[in-house]
Amino acid sequence: MSPSAADYEAVAADIEQLAATEEDSDAIVRGAVEAIHDRLDTYSWVGIYFVEGEELVLGPWKGPTATDHVRIPIGEGVCGAAAASGVTEIVDDVNADPRYLACFPSTRSEIVVPIRYQDMVVAEIDIDSDSAAAFGDDDRSFLERVALLISPHCLVGWDTGGQAWEP
Ligand code: SME
Repeated sequence: MSPSAADYEAVAADIEQLAATEEDSDAIVRGAVEAIHDRLDTYSWVGIYFVEGEELVLGPWKGPTATDHVRIPIGEGVCGAAAASGVTEIVDDVNADPRYLACFPSTRSEIVVPIRYQDMVVAEIDIDSDSAAAFGDDDRSFLERVALLISPHCLVGWDTGGQAWEP
């Protein structure tokens, strides 16, 4: 079932609270991934990719299966397109989009939301749904709000040169 306005609000408020009270950036980003995945029915797989140089590197994720796409060159795939443009991508039918890099056979639609910090794209939120056309303007607004909340905590690649993330 599509999330309601109250669902989006409740999850965003909890992530806001987490970002305001938790001091560890890792815990904030992981907590956000978990909340988004666990509490919104149509969000089948949720991951954060961090920008490192010319690549996106997979950070924390939650979903039924791991993806082989742990590194994606900026400009490739739907993820790479969103990182290059800095604009949210919504794909209603992944099989009809020639840019799409397949991860899971069950995926039907996808949304990718860039995470900006001081005008740079530093990371992005990637969500796959097993339902067709699962994402719309409500998801875009909700996830852009989450991106803003977690952006200061997504500087992994910039601060440290990257680190290994395991779910
Ligand atoms: N489908 C993405 C690749 C990442 S997986 O969905 C986890 C893309 O086209 O860039």
